[in-house]
Order: sequence, then structure tokens, then C-alpha cells
Amino acid sequence: MNTVAGSSSSSSLFVAVASAAVNNNPPTEATPSEETKTEKATETNITTKTGAREASIGMATRAETLSLLEVDSAQGDNDMGDGDSGIADIDSSTLSSSVRSSVYEFIEENGRTYHRYKEGQYFLPNDESERERLDLQHQLFLLTFQDQLHLSPTTEEQLHNVLDIGTGTGIWAIDFALRNPSAHVIGTDLSPIQPSHTPANCQFIIEDAQDPWIFPSHQTFSLIHGRALASCFTRPQDVLTSAAGHLTPGTGWLEFQDIVIPMRCIDDSWEGTALQRWNHLMVDCIQRTGRDISYSQRYKEMFRLAGLVDVHDRHFVWPTNRWCRGEEYKRIATWFLKDMSDGLEAISLQILSRIAGMSRDEIDVFLDEVRKDLANPEYHVYIPVTVTMGRRLA
Ligand SMILES: C[S@@+](CC[C@H](N)C(=O)[O-])C[C@H]1O[C@@H](n2cnc3c(N)ncnc32)[C@H](O)[C@@H]1O
Repeated sequence: MNTVAGSSSSSSLFVAVASAAVNNNPPTEATPSEETKTEKATETNITTKTGAREASIGMATRAETLSLLEVDSAQGDNDMGDGDSGIADIDSSTLSSSVRSSVYEFIEENGRTYHRYKEGQYFLPNDESERERLDLQHQLFLLTFQDQLHLSPTTEEQLHNVLDIGTGTGIWAIDFALRNPSAHVIGTDLSPIQPSHTPANCQFIIEDAQDPWIFPSHQTFSLIHGRALASCFTRPQDVLTSAAGHLTPGTGWLEFQDIVIPMRCIDDSWEGTALQRWNHLMVDCIQRTGRDISYSQRYKEMFRLAGLVDVHDRHFVWPTNRWCRGEEYKRIATWFLKDMSDGLEAISLQILSRIAGMSRDEIDVFLDEVRKDLANPEYHVYIPVTVTMGRRLA
């Protein structure tokens, strides 16, 4: 394991450079007035802008899932082509100068780089190919939500200060800032992998979301967003509690968009496959590190525990390939297959080498098998995706 200099060009913990403003505000939805009403609406498969792909499969029963996903019996191969193509007074001095410099050093292991600041907290790499994958995954989320960056029922007028925790490459934060030029957007992450050219109303801070937040207690946000953070936290409830305390009273929303690990299968078709073994092995290994890999399926109760109200969620699915019937699913599946095929090594490497004790050769052979299974339309596998939202009381 080596330490290497990070590739970010910024020498500051803050990255904020001027640029543009394209107003392309995401559609908003009606504000649920009371919790019971919201619950009712979300648990009866409401018709929404994303309706066709949405279903109540949260704690997915087999019957519910089967009614949502159907095998496309006409699907011969897995061919991709079918024509579808002020913020406030943030004190950056909370990090000591030695920590500041270490932020820009990365750990090198097995040919990939990992964050050095708070080393070991997060087990995926932060190098160029992982950044490309995160940007691709951003498109997958947008495709799933019909180009909406958030599903919380906020209005444009309410969106002043917005926070994106675990922002990754910052692509959501930048997109949000461009679409909402009057909002001020901050992204935080352990890794300084955000671009140095950002819209003027967007900035990035290196911070561990599990630590007490650096924002002063009076600093509140109209929307706090977190995406694809399902395996990040050992203390997810602490993160939610910090977030709840920094929402604007009465109108501030917290929204987490996440996958629900592990993958599932609508039938027995994946029994004995490398893909099934990989899912079980990853869950087992991650649990051995003391991490609860399944917390994203409990976000609703965790949001309530953090004191939020009007808590509700919406459910989606990403099939692993074009095995399923329906052009919308097939399009999403095409992107998800690319996401998984590109990201499989990044997701697996540290876990399988450090915890499962596999050699690099063993890992490569195993992942080749898993990649083939991911693309095989005979295996009817998908991953649930959930969006959980909650509002701070006045
Ligand atoms: C799967 S990526 C998702 C990035 C981004 N939210 C997106 O959807 O494109 C998870 C990100 O969370 C960051 N992360 C993990 N643990 C964190 C922590 N404790 N505090 C802040 N960021 C963290 C990682 O560095 C990584 O960039």
C-alpha cells in the first residue's frame, strides 16, 4: 500500500470557481399536509411522473415484485441497441494543516487509489475510473427519476441553501446549482475528487459526515440530499440526526436516494451463480467489518427517529440487464449493466482482498464470472432503489 498525491488541482479545502447558470428547475410535487395522508399515498402505488417504474416493493414481497417485473420471453440476447438511446460562516480551519495536506494524498492499493483522510472509512476507490462510473450512475438516477434531481415536495422558492453529503464527484451538486441559480449548494465528501471549475453558487468541503458537522448550529438548509451512501456509514443514525438538526424548521427536507443491498431475483434463476455468490459474499464480508449493509431499507424508521415528520418513501428497481419486459426497464437496465460491469472491481477489490483474503488472480477470475452473470438474461436479477424523504417540524 502506497501513498500518492491526489489528482485534484485545488490547493484549498474549498473549491468554488465562477461559471454559468442554466435555469432548468426540476418539477416539484404537492406538499403532503399530514403524515397519514402521505403514508397512504405512497403505499398504494401512486401514479406520479415516474409512475410506470414505481412500485411498493420497499420490503419487497415476492408477489409485489413479480407484478412489477416480468421476464421478456422474446429477449434472445443482451444486445444493448434497440434505438433507445451565503452561505454561511463555514469555518474551514476546523481541519488542522497536517490533515489538510493529507486530504490531497491518496492511498494506492492493488492499482487503485483510495481516500487518505479518515483512511479506511470508505472501501471504494476515488480514482478516475471510479469518478467516471459515479458520473455515469448520476445519469442512471436521472433516468430513473425522469430527470428530477430530487423528489421531496419543496418548491423553488423554498430552495435557498442546499447540502449534498457524500457528494462524490459533485455532479449532483453542480447539476442542482446550474438548474437553481438562486440556490447556494454545498457538497461534502471525504475525498477531494470534485472539479475545480464549478458554478459560482456551488462549493465543496472535505468533511466526514459522521463527525459533528462543521456548520454552525444556526446554519440550516432547505434541502439536504444524500445519494448512494448505503455502504458508507458505521453510524448512519448519527448522520441523519446531524442532518435533521440542520434543516430549516418547517420547510427543510432531508432526502436520501439509495440502492437496497443485496440484489434480489424474481425467481430461482440465479441459484448457484457466481452473481448470487458474490452478493452473499459481499454482504457477509462487509458485516464482518461491523458495518450494517442493509440500513438503506430502514431509512424511514431512521428518519422518524431523527425527529422528522411527513416521512415517506418511493420505490424503483434496476434490473441487471434486458431480461425484463418493457422499454423503460430495458433502458435503465442497459445503464445499470454498464454501471455494474465498470464498477464491479471498484466495489469488490478491497473487500475481497482484505476481508475474504482472496488473491488478485482469484478476484479477477471470480469477477469475470460475475460480469458474465450480470449480462446473462437468463438470470432475473435486480436491485431495489429507494428514495426516502422527511421534513423538519416547524
Ligand atoms: C457511492 S459514492 C456516491 C457519490 C454521490 N453521492 C453520487 O451519487 O454521485 C459515495 C461517496 O460518499 C463518500 N463518503 C463515504 N463515507 C463518507 C463519510 N463518512 N463522510 C463523507 N463522505 C463520505 C465517498 O467518498 C464517496 O464519494
